[in-house]
Amino acid sequence: MTSGLKHLPGYFDRAAQEELVALLREALAKAPLYTPVMPKSGRPLTVRMSNLGSLGWVSDRGGYRYQPTHPETGQPWPAIPGPVMAVWRKVAQYPHEPEACLVNYYREGAKLGLHRDEDEEDFAAPVVSVSLGDTAIFRIGGLERQGKTETLKLSSGDVLVLGGPSRLRYHGIDRVLSGTSTLLKDGGRLNLTLRRVTKP
Ligand code: SIN
Ligand code: MN
Repeated sequence: MTSGLKHLPGYFDRAAQEELVALLREALAKAPLYTPVMPKSGRPLTVRMSNLGSLGWVSDRGGYRYQPTHPETGQPWPAIPGPVMAVWRKVAQYPHEPEACLVNYYREGAKLGLHRDEDEEDFAAPVVSVSLGDTAIFRIGGLERQGKTETLKLSSGDVLVLGGPSRLRYHGIDRVLSGTSTLLKDGGRLNLTLRRVTKP
């Protein structure tokens, strides 16, 4: 693996995963998952999203950006739960807190095209992600969209860090393998992506 890319399989055990899901259900009751649309075309994404933290990542006809409120409720995003902050402190090797935690929910058939996380002001901080529920086929490339790519399976409880020279690598989700986990009672996959947005 190229430097800065860290896959930590089984970082959270089953009990810890269940605790995370309970905390997320509480947060999502306040900041419901919604269906974002692509800039310009307005085409809906297949992934449903919400956010936690002081800033949330949104996509709409106007573009991609971070904002402090939920686009449908107008309310501030709920706080990032303690056990999620704890994983950042443990693995990020970055001295400031994350500001955004994007919550992605993939049902059967949902995917996420190849992209870079580049809407942040500070690329010195890594992107830290947590996978819960069904296993996903994660695709990772290089710094150019046309570059060679490879795939990695992300299973429930896994943590992935994209930092250092890997911070701006292209990545996406090819598909989610339905029925590979019993964690979420309605199936599918939740992914949490922690990011520092502003320069400290
Ligand atoms: C993302 O790149 O926004 C999410 C990746 C994932 O779902 O693992
Ligand atoms: Mn991403």
